[in-house]
Amino acid sequence: MENPLNPFPQMIVQNPLDLMMDAKNGGYAIGAFNVNNMEITQAIVAAHVAKNAPLILQLSNGARKYANTKMLVDIIKSMEAQYPELPIIIHQDHGDSLETCISAIEAGFNSVMIDASAFPFSENIAKTKEVVDFAHAKGVIVEGELGTLGGIEEHVKVDAKDARLTDPEEAVKFVRETGLDTLACAIGTSHGAYKFAGGCNVDVPRVVKLSEVIPNTPLVMHGSSSVPQEYVEIVNKYGGDLAGAKGVDESTIAEAVQYGVAKVNIDTDLRLVMTAMIRKVFIEEPKQFDPRKYLGPARDEIQKMVEHKIDVLGSANKVRG
Ligand code: G3H
Ligand code: 13P
Ligand code: ZN
Repeated sequence: MENPLNPFPQMIVQNPLDLMMDAKNGGYAIGAFNVNNMEITQAIVAAHVAKNAPLILQLSNGARKYANTKMLVDIIKSMEAQYPELPIIIHQDHGDSLETCISAIEAGFNSVMIDASAFPFSENIAKTKEVVDFAHAKGVIVEGELGTLGGIEEHVKVDAKDARLTDPEEAVKFVRETGLDTLACAIGTSHGAYKFAGGCNVDVPRVVKLSEVIPNTPLVMHGSSSVPQEYVEIVNKYGGDLAGAKGVDESTIAEAVQYGVAKVNIDTDLRLVMTAMIRKVFIEEPKQFDPRKYLGPARDEIQKMVEHKIDVLGSANKVRG
């Protein structure tokens, strides 16, 4: 599948669905990292270059508004030009409408998510299908969502008690009737830094079941930050307050990947590392006011953290020659 809107046709754009199916069949996952600015993008790409790992860079509506869509796409295209051998999928995270997905595709994204999971099942199908019809005609792949995650997204807040896990029978119908490419499933994770009041509680058997009933659909795990406690401690030590922050155990993520999760969404951990490193410089060097002197260390540490994630996901050295 080719993206006819790829504004840089000299670059090899591998079919994103092939990359995702390779991951699913190979028992590893592609990290999908949210980007909001240059430093975060550079750090994530540098980590994937160092590890020779395929990559998804995703933009939420909030990121697109904050930095300007073209600005972020141009930063990514610039990174692609520097590392043409690295496959980068540019993905719309939590698209809220057909219009959002169209504007993403027009801006050069080759993968979009339509998140109509808050609507009744039949409306979710209809809204997802209209995006699939538009996107597939342009050679762009589509992620849909079934079930509801807890936590906060820009356009919807879901209390943990209202979160509804993905039903396998509904998933079969949803995939068949929408024609989507990848499925975001609710398995007990949530967005943000406070995922579990007690221990990590993710329904891995549900992943196993979903993989059985929709074997040709790569599964997507949202809310996959592990909220590493070493960074929570740095934030708290240097004047922040993230008491009680908790993420998904890395061993649980690795297990879900073994059973068919092929795309793992991570945003909170990037924010956490950046905040920890900037706070550290501000407190340890109160006279410092050159942004490069605190954004630089933050960028370096994000790269280190992302390299570790790649090891957890098993995606190192999976770039095809
Ligand atoms: O799904 C949530 C992502 O972390 C994006 O968050 O809407 O604040 O950019 P955002
Ligand atoms: P986290 O908040 O766990 O990083 O999840 C991000 C996400 O799912 C983006 O779609
Ligand atoms: Zn998400």
